[in-house]
Amino acid sequence: SLPKAVKIKLDEKDPQVVKLRPASKESDEKGTRVRVLGRVHRLRSQKDVIFVTLYDGYGFLQCVLTGTLTKTFDALTLTQETSMDIRGEMCEVPPKQHAPDNRELHADYFEVIGKAAGAEEAITTRVAPDADPQTFLDNRHLVIRGETASSVLKVRAAVLRAFRQAYVETRLTEVSPPCMVQTQVEGGATLFSFDYYGEQAYLTQSSQLYLETCLPSLGDVFCVAPSFRAEKSLTRRHLSEYTHIEAELDFITFDDLLNHLETVMCRVIDLVLADPEAAKAIQHLNPDFRAPQRPFLRMRYSDAIDWLREHDIPNEEGEPHKFGDDIAEAAERKMTDIINRPIFLTHFPVEIKAFYMQKERADPRVTESVDCLMPGVGEIVGGSMRIWDYEELLQAYKREGIDPASYYWYIDQRKYGTSPHGGYGLGLERFLAWLCNRWTVRECCLYPRFAGRCKP
Ligand code: 4AD
Repeated sequence: SLPKAVKIKLDEKDPQVVKLRPASKESDEKGTRVRVLGRVHRLRSQKDVIFVTLYDGYGFLQCVLTGTLTKTFDALTLTQETSMDIRGEMCEVPPKQHAPDNRELHADYFEVIGKAAGAEEAITTRVAPDADPQTFLDNRHLVIRGETASSVLKVRAAVLRAFRQAYVETRLTEVSPPCMVQTQVEGGATLFSFDYYGEQAYLTQSSQLYLETCLPSLGDVFCVAPSFRAEKSLTRRHLSEYTHIEAELDFITFDDLLNHLETVMCRVIDLVLADPEAAKAIQHLNPDFRAPQRPFLRMRYSDAIDWLREHDIPNEEGEPHKFGDDIAEAAERKMTDIINRPIFLTHFPVEIKAFYMQKERADPRVTESVDCLMPGVGEIVGGSMRIWDYEELLQAYKREGIDPASYYWYIDQRKYGTSPHGGYGLGLERFLAWLCNRWTVRECCLYPRFAGRCKP
């Protein structure tokens, strides 16, 4: 006679395929027969029982194989990452035993769909937990199968959803600016250039200038787009390609800009923490995370210079900071970590900021600019009010030695109904490094790009 497993398949109507969402009615109801499709995350074999923790991208399920099911060739040669079809009954987890999401499937039938390589080719050998960073990066396509990497990617998706929702709530319209451009925004040193049908073109550093052109007809706008920076130095917070969330607001003051930024960032955190799956992932990655308190600390650049001097934190030359210094990454990190709360660092000197920034009326040595600094990461947002006077903008190009010719379309904004406006750019990977407590932004994107790495 046929073994029990095959009989069930032939005689019974196939049970419903369920996705392994935690706390889902279909997969948690005890006594129901279900069919699950996924891959082996963990495997434990005892004499007459095999415990398979199956994962399918939605959750984990402990599947218990017993009796004749454990005696088949497929069962005896089962490997981690093998894809399987398992059917059986959802049961109580026996007292004193633990299973993910406190649920368990007692299998009565299974099929191997795709066997995963074992022995020296096993996934755990390819990316052993103690492997060096290069191995992890070379095998990023396998690393993202792990719980930690996939949790970060799930939080990333939730953060993107939350930003879009927060922008809908604050009535910003989404636009999609081009990535191939012929203008710079943040300085020539980090431009990636390429040949565009015989003309020189660049990969965009920021969509800001394009967003500014949308204000008259679309009102306040935002975009979620890649930005590219040919950063030469390898740091833990610089990528060559990153996801830039940028917004531009019309007819505002600098104070309006700071208040908007605070509102959006806090709303995003609230939305993400209200998403059960994202909240669970953050709990796993960063158990100490607490939503920031409003208002954020507001600190002028000149006060930060005084603060750094008082705390004996030197500049890059090893000397005490002075007005006009670019506050380097290490000093900025130290200050943010000691203050240990979000900081709006404002009013940077004209010389160390981009050409388009509006000067402060009261002190024209400085700009109406802001960097938002977060503990553990430092700068995650850069923004400012924009020069809105035609002549002043032309002067700024002159000062920076930029030929204004290719910016005619940007300068036209000052010709046809100019307005006080401002905006900002937020690096999604830096935001995630802060939220998920990751050492580097390289862990916060799908396939990181930085000097020396453009694969997989
Ligand atoms: O301060 P940045 O250069 O500002 C701009 O690009 C403005 N045009 C944005 C705007 O006003 N619309 O960059 C903004 C943010 C930084 O605060 C940082 O979070 C992120 O972009 N960023 C990077 N993230 C990863 N890798 C890099 N190389 C980054 N460079 C900037």
